[in-house]
Amino acid sequence: MSKFEEQTGSKYNRYFDNAATSWPKPEAVYKAGEIQMRQACGNPGRSGHTRTLEADRLIYRTREAVAALFNIADPARIIFTLNATDALNIALKGFLEPGDHVLFTAMEHNSVLRPLARLQREGLVTITEILSTKEGCPDLDFLEKAYQPDTRLLVCNHASNVTGTIAPLKKMIDSAHSRGVKVLVDASQTAGTIKIDAQSENIDLLAFTGHKGLLGPTGTGGLYVRPGLDLKTLREGGTGSQSDQDRHPETMPERLEAGTLNSVGLAGLLEGINFIQQQGITLIRDHEKSIRTNLFTQLQAIKSIKLYGPADSELCSSIVSFTIDNTDCGEVGYILENSYGILCRTGLHCAPLAHKAIGTFPEGTVRLSPGYFSNKNDIDYLIGAIKEIVGLVN
Ligand SMILES: Cc1ncc(COP(=O)(O)O)c(C=O)c1O
Repeated sequence: MSKFEEQTGSKYNRYFDNAATSWPKPEAVYKAGEIQMRQACGNPGRSGHTRTLEADRLIYRTREAVAALFNIADPARIIFTLNATDALNIALKGFLEPGDHVLFTAMEHNSVLRPLARLQREGLVTITEILSTKEGCPDLDFLEKAYQPDTRLLVCNHASNVTGTIAPLKKMIDSAHSRGVKVLVDASQTAGTIKIDAQSENIDLLAFTGHKGLLGPTGTGGLYVRPGLDLKTLREGGTGSQSDQDRHPETMPERLEAGTLNSVGLAGLLEGINFIQQQGITLIRDHEKSIRTNLFTQLQAIKSIKLYGPADSELCSSIVSFTIDNTDCGEVGYILENSYGILCRTGLHCAPLAHKAIGTFPEGTVRLSPGYFSNKNDIDYLIGAIKEIVGLVN
């Protein structure tokens, strides 16, 4: 019996879109949201009655769980956000000052590219794209030559959501820090599936989403802000503290968390992280590597399929992007779903520059992203379907 069958009682796991959002979730994640809404629904931090205190404790425990997972010494330096997009916007707009120069990689998601483009259009910052190799890896030689006297920030996607390619984070951070440049890491594709150590990796700002590898619900995410970095606030409002003052509190996490938090979603996120810790992130990573290798190798053997990103799964998150010669990606996705019940994502995946780097712009790719609950049978079923489609279209 597959892990998927054990968890859901369903025979078929045809979900290959974990890079968009993970599914299924551990059973405890589903239950936690319901329990929180039915039994513990108080407004965290807003008064002293039992339910608010319970909600407050839950949020504190979730903050502690995130801190333990990313080896962050002070949980108060982690703020909860709506998703990774929200976290990246808070980081970019809260950190950057007029006149700053920003470096970003070609593998960034639109949640980085669009805020930066807007800031540039408005004349606030200047930006430079760090080119990437055909396999989706930021070019370190290019980076070395791209710094300017006013460069203040480097934004780096930990793993590409198009090819899965893992960036050489340590080298990039060392390079930036040697010039006094801070680094914002987008861990949307790696949090929960690849080990991240914010302290030993010297990360300044770490944005993550709760609904992908962390196995939590949508509407959750967060940002770690290294001690000593004070971001400008994007919103001010209720925090339940210092209510007599018209200035928003400066202490973290309240400084960057105005308004009632998503305690229902965070209850689920806590259970997602608990599940990851129980399984062990090494086991999760090993399983995903072996599933990806199996998928990549079987696809490699099919003539007329072109694969993108490294063959070595050690260098990748659990993503395989491909195209079929002379065939529209959207059509492949349509047939996979409608004839085989297989769900994946096709097109540009909100990362147009990444596709320019790997040579698939503007058509994009078919992206398969198996998860921890995918197994060998799922891959065999998927490969069978793709072989039939290749036979049909060629
Ligand atoms: C690399 C990357 N960054 C940012 C995001 C945005 O995540 P969210 O939808 O949680 O805001 C995604 C989501 O696909 C992503 O893959």
